[in-house]
Amino acid sequence: MWRRIERVGSGAIGRGGWAGRLGKKGGGSLVEELRIGVLGFGTVGTGTVRLLLTNGELLAQRTGVRFRLVRIATLDPQGDRGLDLAGIEVTDDAWKVVDGDDIDVVVEVMGGLEPAGSLVLRALRNGKPVVTANKALLAQRGEGLIAEALRSGVELGFEAAVAGAVPVIKALKESLAANRIQQVYGILNGTCNYILTEMREKGLPFATILGEAQRLGFAEADPSFDVDGIDAAHKLTILASLAFGTPLDFERVTVEGIRHISDVDIAWATEMGYRIKLLAVARRSGDEIELGVRPVLVADASMVATVEGVFNAVFIEGDFSGTTMYYGRGAGERPTASAVVADLVEIGRNRRSGARGRVPTLSILPQHLVPLPVRDSREQSGEYYIRLEVRDRPGVLAQLTEVLARFGISIDAIHQKGRSQESAVPLVMVTHETTERQVRDALVQIAALDPVSEPPRLIRIESGLA
Ligand SMILES: NC(=O)c1ccc[n+]([C@@H]2O[C@H](COP(=O)([O-])OP(=O)(O)OC[C@H]3O[C@@H](n4cnc5c(N)ncnc54)[C@H](OP(=O)(O)O)[C@@H]3O)[C@@H](O)[C@H]2O)c1
Repeated sequence: MWRRIERVGSGAIGRGGWAGRLGKKGGGSLVEELRIGVLGFGTVGTGTVRLLLTNGELLAQRTGVRFRLVRIATLDPQGDRGLDLAGIEVTDDAWKVVDGDDIDVVVEVMGGLEPAGSLVLRALRNGKPVVTANKALLAQRGEGLIAEALRSGVELGFEAAVAGAVPVIKALKESLAANRIQQVYGILNGTCNYILTEMREKGLPFATILGEAQRLGFAEADPSFDVDGIDAAHKLTILASLAFGTPLDFERVTVEGIRHISDVDIAWATEMGYRIKLLAVARRSGDEIELGVRPVLVADASMVATVEGVFNAVFIEGDFSGTTMYYGRGAGERPTASAVVADLVEIGRNRRSGARGRVPTLSILPQHLVPLPVRDSREQSGEYYIRLEVRDRPGVLAQLTEVLARFGISIDAIHQKGRSQESAVPLVMVTHETTERQVRDALVQIAALDPVSEPPRLIRIESGLA
């Protein structure tokens, strides 16, 4: 599998195994070769190839490994990516990558569940380490892939699958390994964050900003994975597993997207000292965990609120570390390639040092993974923003507060703009701590009151964030 190809720097290299040589020379000067096969030659594939071609020498100096691109699979082998691909085979046969005896490591940047899932599985069965950026595949089929990687004794790297260039996987697996993690939360989808930022800054509705984002390349032609919160939920599934030592299980994440967020709510939030963010939260709550992706109000003064545009940020709270924050570009050709190649570096260094299974794939030894109960999102307590459109008739406030009181909900603040008995005017209430179930049940009755002219809008307020 390994071939010695050259020597860099000075110093004689003795015969024998790597361990002996490294032991003698203290982290040696020998360069070996790792032959790379890439599945997918789109945005991330192109970035990965560009990085390996551009920084190959630096990578060799840092790892003692020459990463050689051997084969790339794409549906469009003739396409021009502006790269010098001399000596690299570009094929439309992805199986030639995972089955080739001339490939040591497979990079999967094809996306989707199939054929990517079968290809990754085959590569692992063939004893090839895999690096993937495919969060959908990991969140939905990760358990089977991890088991196969373990059986074969090879790495499955996925730094690029969460928050692009932001090194949050490594932070959880290594830098914070000494901590019991209390919560991980953050902004994990740049498209949604861009749309919400632009809505606030320009005062324009969701549909207009989405169209603009699509024109600028910040949103896909089919934006549903992003704007419906699914992409962020895939990433949260991975973070929660690493943080809490629980198996990957996408189905247990509560997901709500941003399509229904109106510019009216954003303007109200701004006036009240908040911003609306699509926030992914994985939190310990007694013996249970909370797992949710949804739009929330965050205080203007919080660090989360300052994460704007296409940027991502992840906050991790450990019992000894306290809260640490990781910020940067969560997508794009170059940032994502940076994370893909970081995993290749890890694999190269492991090979050189003879390490096997040094860091468990999900940070904890597989026999210690425990499926933790997930709290029903409706039983999670917090404060809530409620916006009603009401005709301002005498006694309307008394009617509303009477319903809320019946459900045990107390009000922290009420804001109203304008007065009209004929047309409806907005009335915004902020509750004290209550459960989502209580608020939703009360809102069913409030919606049926005569002066209330539109379905009420409800957004959770996340307080206590960094
Ligand atoms: N884009 C980002 O910024 C980003 C960030 C983090 C993670 N990711 C993840 O990275 C993965 C790739 O994303 P991407 O944006 O690079 O996607 P992309 O631009 O659509 O590229 C996918 C590539 O896979 C190729 N492909 C698809 N099916 C194939 C098959 N059966 N055989 C051979 N090649 C096939 C496509 O070929 P054609 O081009 O010919 O169709 C294309 O080259 C996804 O899992 C995504 O979630 C992306």
